[in-house]
Amino acid sequence: MSKVTRAGHTAGPESTGTVTVGRRIVIQGLAVSGCVAAAGGLLKSAAKADQGELAQSLKPGDRFALEVENGPLKPLRLEDIAPGTAILGAYPIDSETGLLRNETRLNMVNLARLSDVKPDTPAAAASGVVAFSAVCTHKGCSITSWNAEDSHWRCFCHMSEFDASDNGEPVAGPASDPLPMVFLAIDAEGYITASAEFSRTPGGTG
Ligand code: FES
Repeated sequence: MSKVTRAGHTAGPESTGTVTVGRRIVIQGLAVSGCVAAAGGLLKSAAKADQGELAQSLKPGDRFALEVENGPLKPLRLEDIAPGTAILGAYPIDSETGLLRNETRLNMVNLARLSDVKPDTPAAAASGVVAFSAVCTHKGCSITSWNAEDSHWRCFCHMSEFDASDNGEPVAGPASDPLPMVFLAIDAEGYITASAEFSRTPGGTG
């Protein structure tokens, strides 16, 4: 379906970069194939985490960054996300240790900056930036697609969609639970910062 930008489709399955298709823009952090077969390992790790072995550990005060193989982390600032774009596959940074909290995929978040912020959008206080768990609430696949036209996240495993402008509510596909949100603030230095823990426990429930 051509309506949605598919992470990894243009730039490769494990690439970092920006993909533009028509009016849709996706900034890819971690791009993972959305197919069921490729997601097998991810489902396994999600199930393991759901059993309590690797609970999410995001805390208020954490900033966010993409994983890097070498070099320092680059915490995300408001200016790093233009209106209508998204950054996928970021992780919280432990505000005490400065280390990325990437010990579990349940900490992974997708961030977007809404161009049309509704009055009831909780992240409106963070200049239109929203952050949601990157783990689909259906069966735990990674959500790797952002459609700026309707502000929807899409999971390619079974095509669930979640409305980022309406608290992550499911709007299509088999998922019945909303995506966990992270309430945000922009700190004095312009960094995007968590102001609370996830609104609900991340992970698949289907
Ligand atoms: S795991 Fe996302 S739609 Fe099924």
